[in-house]
Amino acid sequence: MPRQAKVPALHEPDIAIASGLAGLNWSFPARVAHSGIEGLHPYPAKFIAELPRALVKTLPVPRGSAVLDPFCGSGTTLVESQKSGLPSVGIDLNPIACLMTRVKTAPLPPDLPSSANEAVDRARSDQASAIPPIPNLDHWFLPSVQQALAALTNAIAATQPVHHDPLRLALSSIIVRVSNQDSDTRYAAVEKDVNADAVFQAFLRAAKRLHDVLSSRSYSLVPANVMHADTLAVEPQDVPAPIGLVVTSPPYPNAYEYWLYHKYRMWWLGFDPLAVKKHEIGARAHFFKRDHHTEADFERQMARTFELISGVLVPGGYVCFVVGTSRIHGRVVDNASIVEEVARRFDLHRVFSAERSLSAKRKSFNLAHARIKTETVLVMR
Ligand SMILES: C[S@@+](CC[C@H](N)C(=O)[O-])C[C@H]1O[C@@H](n2cnc3c(N)ncnc32)[C@H](O)[C@@H]1O
Repeated sequence: MPRQAKVPALHEPDIAIASGLAGLNWSFPARVAHSGIEGLHPYPAKFIAELPRALVKTLPVPRGSAVLDPFCGSGTTLVESQKSGLPSVGIDLNPIACLMTRVKTAPLPPDLPSSANEAVDRARSDQASAIPPIPNLDHWFLPSVQQALAALTNAIAATQPVHHDPLRLALSSIIVRVSNQDSDTRYAAVEKDVNADAVFQAFLRAAKRLHDVLSSRSYSLVPANVMHADTLAVEPQDVPAPIGLVVTSPPYPNAYEYWLYHKYRMWWLGFDPLAVKKHEIGARAHFFKRDHHTEADFERQMARTFELISGVLVPGGYVCFVVGTSRIHGRVVDNASIVEEVARRFDLHRVFSAERSLSAKRKSFNLAHARIKTETVLVMR
């Protein structure tokens, strides 16, 4: 006989919250994809902005507390919190995720376009920058592109420190385009007609777009705190504010590989993608070795995450997880049930859940592999 979990009856406020959430269409049919700040830089498996927006707007966040996303990726939860006037905290292992989140939530530094132009002028006259020792570089980048990227990274480092993050993000956003890689979702080397000038032009366009998008933000930039860390190693006292609401989408087993997606971006910006791979929850590499990971590892990782959440959450705070299924060696794993079961051990109980279908248009080489068609929105208190 399956064990029946004891679920406490919903309290009055939870009933009102649940009926408010039930009134929403979680497929967000009116959505217009990837405009403005959402489309600033590619990131796999990011939230559509409407999802955290609905949760942040519907669920209470007590005064003096912040919204937490312990797997913040491209920072969608933090941006939506900021738009609602709420302070937020994001944690991610991936340095590109942290760079994106910082830039999207920080004030725009003055004179960015002229700084981008100066960096390009400097890079154009630099033929001597050393090419960093990146594995397999010649397979993925033409020699003239390598020289241009090396010169640009050095030229950016010579700009004012406040310009480093936004200019590095602009550079990161063009890396795949100027490489021999076919596209962000297809790892095949193809012949492309790219030279140093094309790199500089693409960088200037990316910097201009970033400047235009960030300068058109019309809301107040309440503080968003980004922690570059392995969430499983973060202690409650490391989190800089009490947390009133958690909105997150965790990495789930054998579905995506964030480190691989951003591998060359990380190499070029001076980070080590292999160190990220080692600690990345769910990375497919962990499922194809002897002693491979299983759903038991995911359960343990979620238990550690909930230990952190329960150490920072204010009494009565809500916790929202958006999670899909996985396939591990042919078995379908219901990650939402694992999350809910783990949360229960920390006295967090389901108030609401909804199944939402994923857009068939969403381009991902991993979605097809894992046959992920829906995801669950799980709200607990
Ligand atoms: C589903 S994505 C989050 C996407 C995010 N909701 C967005 O809108 O962009 C999961 C994130 O978990 C991060 N991650 C994986 N393992 C981690 C770990 N051990 N500690 C912190 N973050 C981790 C990945 O880098 C990835 O950004």
